[in-house]
Amino acid sequence: MTERVVTVLCAVRGPDETAVVTVLGAAGAAVTVTRRCAELAELLAAAEAGAGVVAVVSVDLPGLDREAVARLRRAGTRVVVLADGHASAGRVSGLGPDAVVPGWPVDPEGLLAAVRDETVAGPTVAEPPVPDGGRPGAVVAVWGPAGSPGRTTTAIELAAALAGLPDRAGTGGAPTASGVRLPTRPGAGVRARRGRRPTGPRDTVLLVDADTYASSVATRLGLLDDAPGLAAAARAAGQGVLDLVTLARHSPVALPGVRVLTGITRPARWPELPASALEVVWERARELVTWTVVDCGPVLEADELLMYDTHAPQRNAATLAALAAADVVVVVGAADPVGLQRLVRGLEDLREAPVAVAGVRVVVANRVRAGAAGPRPEAAVRDALARYAGVVDLHVVPDDPAGADAALLAGRALAERVPGSPARAAFAALAERVRGLVPAARSAIGPATAD
Ligand SMILES: Nc1ncnc2c1ncn2[C@@H]1O[C@H](COP(=O)(O)OP(=O)(O)OP(=O)(O)O)[C@@H](O)[C@H]1O
Ligand SMILES: [Mg+2]
Repeated sequence: MTERVVTVLCAVRGPDETAVVTVLGAAGAAVTVTRRCAELAELLAAAEAGAGVVAVVSVDLPGLDREAVARLRRAGTRVVVLADGHASAGRVSGLGPDAVVPGWPVDPEGLLAAVRDETVAGPTVAEPPVPDGGRPGAVVAVWGPAGSPGRTTTAIELAAALAGLPDRAGTGGAPTASGVRLPTRPGAGVRARRGRRPTGPRDTVLLVDADTYASSVATRLGLLDDAPGLAAAARAAGQGVLDLVTLARHSPVALPGVRVLTGITRPARWPELPASALEVVWERARELVTWTVVDCGPVLEADELLMYDTHAPQRNAATLAALAAADVVVVVGAADPVGLQRLVRGLEDLREAPVAVAGVRVVVANRVRAGAAGPRPEAAVRDALARYAGVVDLHVVPDDPAGADAALLAGRALAERVPGSPARAAFAALAERVRGLVPAARSAIGPATAD
């Protein structure tokens, strides 16, 4: 019987290169080096041409990042990374290779075993820390069709309510995810200081702006938007160096208990948010906080021209990656004739999305008002969505232009600026519903603690 020969693409820098090729080419190794690549582009082209089933790559190969490794794997090539003493284990495993072997000096047996896929254990990945109660946090994607139905408002208010605002805002400085106490704004929390005991649960939350068409969370919360936190976190993830400290550094605390990863400053920067990197961002976020709330863009389709070019960046990758990772998908539609029709179609689009969306769906009709839906607006909206989209448990948020404008003008959440707003109360009820849908995250936190 003839032994199967493993074809290898080699992209190794420095003096290791000759040693690696010699080890792999030794008689009896059942391995053949089919290509010696000088740079990443050559390696990717060879892998995509099917020239080898394994790529041996040195960790310092210029341009090697998580997306490149993912691309090699999509081409059907196993990736063996040769680590050097300078790259941390976290950086190497963060690239997502199939195996890691120490470089200089090359360990011939370890290298051959990795190339032949005989290693028992994969790359060492550090045990991730988990938030608060020991369970990973949950991801909530807030999506809705085009036409500004209120995705960002819903994401901000949901994040605030999950973090326990407005009660949390009024306790004289709220504990943050990093344990630092924030000074509260003048006037905030008057009720709490008068002896009202906070009642809301106090989870830690990360609010992420993943809208690649019209990001607005930074402006809405009065943050500087010149350094998009999400792009920085995605870049670190792509390079395999996104740890919890780095994620926390890129996500300042904007509301008590709520960190924010701001969105891209110009829509043209969407290629900075590839799915392969965002998958790592969601993973780390689950370790950092109890709830990750993602404000998504409105468009779901994958670019048809690029459908067969699986490595091409996709404009809607950030939204699709969030939807694919979400435990709960909040679908927001505007409660007027145009908005409702878009919502009905949007729910169909979501069912046919190019990624599997397994999260539990909660449908929200926002800005419910008689002026746009008739004399009994809530009943009319419920009836329309039950009839045309089969939605029987619609969540309704009333129109509250005065509250929304006051929050907008102040660059704050309704929960902080206008805690008595009827829309705020509806968003708080939405947060309760979301909590009930993810029991593991809920029990990780336990009941509210009053201080
Ligand atoms: N319940 C509400 N009552 C009154 N105004 C609201 C309500 N919800 C949202 N708004 C207002 O509607 C406008 C659009 O809301 P928002 O920015 O949240 O929508 P969006 O879907 O994120 O839009 P975009 O397409 O810009 O991403 C904002 O001015 C906001 O203040
Ligand atoms: Mg928005």
